Amino acid sequence: MILEHRLTPPQTRGLAVLLEKSFPQYPEGETFLQQAPDFRVVSRHKRKIVSQVAVDFRMIRNGKNSARVFCLSDVCVHPDFQSRQLGTQMLKWLESEAQKNGIDFILLTSGVQGFYYKLGYRYKENIFKWLLIRNGKSMGLLQRRLRSTVMVKKISQEVWSNGIIDLAGPIF
Ligand SMILES: CC(C)(COP(=O)(O)OP(=O)(O)OC[C@H]1O[C@@H](n2cnc3c(N)ncnc32)[C@H](O)[C@@H]1OP(=O)(O)O)[C@@H](O)C(=O)NCCC(=O)NCCS
Repeated sequence: MILEHRLTPPQTRGLAVLLEKSFPQYPEGETFLQQAPDFRVVSRHKRKIVSQVAVDFRMIRNGKNSARVFCLSDVCVHPDFQSRQLGTQMLKWLESEAQKNGIDFILLTSGVQGFYYKLGYRYKENIFKWLLIRNGKSMGLLQRRLRSTVMVKKISQEVWSNGIIDLAGPIF
């Protein structure tokens, strides 16, 4: 695990290369799209970072309750290292970290359903509310029903609401 504020310049450059290799449309030289995460789970091969998950720890509004969540973004494994269970290992590590630390749910957005489905993530089609950020600037609040977009893994006994989910920050 690397805390975001402790990333060294070589680590930042390595992450930017990995993100560009994994997501062809990722902006060159960037290591996040909307907002910097709190920490990253990574794996290395010969000291080079070959996979990563960016993680935000956040309190969200789950209907009438609040919930402690990990929001994941940019889950990726370098193409040369895919299909070796690295992606699975990172998410399992994160799940155990969540269980040990009173996290209620892990959230992510993805169109790659199969990989996450095997790990117990399911689409939730609530009305979501979030802060839109573009080019580092707050652009306003959005509220809409999202279908086949947000996947959730339940960690604690907290019940996922059918009501409005306020992400209390940007979408990930
Ligand atoms: C998706 C990704 C993170 C998976 O990581 P990985 O280390 O290659 O996957 P694993 O080896 O842990 O695979 C676990 C299972 O998920 C399945 N899987 C892997 N990639 C998949 C994909 N793109 N679509 C559907 N299922 C996939 C595998 O079949 C495997 O099943 P098995 O355990 O029964 O063999 C990786 O392929 C990747 O970085 N892809 C490009 C970026 C991306 O699409 N990221 C996810 C969207 S945010």
